[in-house]
Amino acid sequence: MGVSHSRVLHRSLRETPPKAVGGDGVWLIAEDGRRVLDGSGGAAVSCLGHQHPRVIEAVSRQASKLAYAHTGFFSSEPAEALADHLVGDEPGGLAYAYFVSGGSEAIEASIKLARQYFIESGQPQRQRFIARRQSYHGNTLGALSAGGNAWRRESFAPLLSPTFSHVTPAFAYHEKHDGESDADFVARLAAELEAEFQRLGPDTVAAFMAEPVVGATAGCVSPPEGYFRAVRDICNRHGALLILDEVMCGMGRTGTLHACEQEGVSPDLMALAKGLGGGYAPIGALVMQDKIFDAIADGSGAFQHSHTYMGHPLACAAALAVQRIMRRDNLLANVRSQGAHLARRLKERFGNHPFVGDVRGRGLFQGIELVADRGSKEPFDAKLRLHARVKREAMARGLLVYPMGGSADGIRGDHVLIAPPFIIEGAAIDTIVERLGEAIDAATAQTQ
Ligand SMILES: Cc1ncc(COP(=O)(O)O)c(C=O)c1O
Repeated sequence: MGVSHSRVLHRSLRETPPKAVGGDGVWLIAEDGRRVLDGSGGAAVSCLGHQHPRVIEAVSRQASKLAYAHTGFFSSEPAEALADHLVGDEPGGLAYAYFVSGGSEAIEASIKLARQYFIESGQPQRQRFIARRQSYHGNTLGALSAGGNAWRRESFAPLLSPTFSHVTPAFAYHEKHDGESDADFVARLAAELEAEFQRLGPDTVAAFMAEPVVGATAGCVSPPEGYFRAVRDICNRHGALLILDEVMCGMGRTGTLHACEQEGVSPDLMALAKGLGGGYAPIGALVMQDKIFDAIADGSGAFQHSHTYMGHPLACAAALAVQRIMRRDNLLANVRSQGAHLARRLKERFGNHPFVGDVRGRGLFQGIELVADRGSKEPFDAKLRLHARVKREAMARGLLVYPMGGSADGIRGDHVLIAPPFIIEGAAIDTIVERLGEAIDAATAQTQ
């Protein structure tokens, strides 16, 4: 049963999406001229909005000078300048950057670099990785093995590496017991992680991997106070690395450049993507502490990994322009103030909504979780695909948000992620909330 409109294998093989032909700040423009308000920056990508003239100019300038030179032979001006912009010289800080083409590649590189670090520092037995259920680290096989989201893993389970195991996520709405304090919840999660280290043998664990604020699979879940300090301590005690996946929550999205700054921890390795290049070019990065770099520099002298397009000059030029504009225009301040406005408006609109169980998030990274019953937190039947209905109803009202299923347990549950560009103003936020409210009302009405 072929569908003939398009030769592209789209996300749905049954439906060809409309063509986007233009962009204008927080708006996307479809081929029929319709303007769609980008309430989620795609998937928390477009942090500067669309068609920012300074970024376009930087990419064209680089394209007119040099589009590509293979990294086996050359470095490039934009790659060097971007690394200088992202990492610094502070002792024990993040000191080096490895540029790839997206989030999954950054995660793959983090797994391999952690492994190689331990081989070269005389601990080859460290080959286990601990991650969390309900996490998303990407769709390549290594990243999918690390991820803990049931429906994404299911079909590919026989291909996934058993070297990854998964512990309970710091997801208070679903995992915190009634009457349990945050401190007790953190202590319970820390005890579980410690027990997992003991089960595996603490000196076999290479790293613990987590998203500081969980994005796509759970809908903007921030950790309870003290959680990341507790897991950092456990990693330190056992000599394992802490890998933070800031692909979605990083680069300013939560109101600080890195989400982990709000947790008071710094990782050994951190994966970045999405907001790094803001969608102007495909780019991801793995940034690392100098001890990782030094071990390999003093050992074999080369990270045994590479991709043809790593450190691509156009991608690095785009990301450098995005990051310079963010700093020059002090956009983090706007993320914090408009993020507070967005959180307030969402709570006003959905705080007492019969089908919204939770409104949560940080900065311009907010999520709402839809439930059939607020008291019991019972999700909607997964077969209803409520998240897909919300997406459709929102698009019909000229709003792009990022709804997803599986929020409760990896199969059931629906949430909507709202992550607009950092340039957004109050009036556009009000429009997002208004249109989203109508879309959710229409979508939930279809299920009754
Ligand atoms: C936390 C996280 N890690 C990794 C990835 C994978 O990134 P990409 O889709 O660029 O490969 C994503 C994508 O949504 C993500 O949200």
